[in-house]
Amino acid sequence: KKVAVFASGSGSNFQALVDAVNASTLEADIRLLVCDQPTAAVLERAQKANIESYCISPKNFTDKTAFEKEIVQQLKLRDIEFIVLAGYMRIIGSTILKEFPESIVNIHPSLLPAFPGKDAIGQAIEAGVQVSGLTIHYVDAGMDTGPIIFQKEIKIQSEDTRDTVQKRIQQAEHISYPEVLQELFSKDSVNAVR
Ligand code: GRF
Repeated sequence: KKVAVFASGSGSNFQALVDAVNASTLEADIRLLVCDQPTAAVLERAQKANIESYCISPKNFTDKTAFEKEIVQQLKLRDIEFIVLAGYMRIIGSTILKEFPESIVNIHPSLLPAFPGKDAIGQAIEAGVQVSGLTIHYVDAGMDTGPIIFQKEIKIQSEDTRDTVQKRIQQAEHISYPEVLQELFSKDSVNAVR
């Protein structure tokens, strides 16, 4: 699969995906990083990995449709078939959704539908739950609402802080995301042969 990763921040999940491709445990062609934050650390990771990055700010567009049309055009130029969201802090709108049906996935640090949106880990701690986790799901028009592909539980102990929980969830994300994508992509190629 020709893949674009969308990210806004540190990009540790982006890095895990790149590492998995390099280790041949994930068979994917990550050809583009789309980033909406010009100072995001993920840009440096892409540069080091020799992956093209495309930085785009919604401020330079009249509305979300124009912003997303430009992204779609850039994706098409590079024959992108699949979009992987990895800490991309924007809701994907109808313009991108229409062009990539069932071909956009996201990873979220909670057991959805619990704690959608920002600071899922803070929300979980605030709520006092003893189990949270991570969810990998298809993206639809809502916020963290699409069909769930995979979930993993992570325990929260009384001595845990936001930081320790985040670390534990992220470590699990870095293992699960490449594995789940590999499974998705290999199923796809089986279907294509049939
Ligand atoms: C991850 O925890 C992911 O679940 C959430 O955003 C975070 C991104 O972290 N959607 P990173 O930029 O991959 O380090």
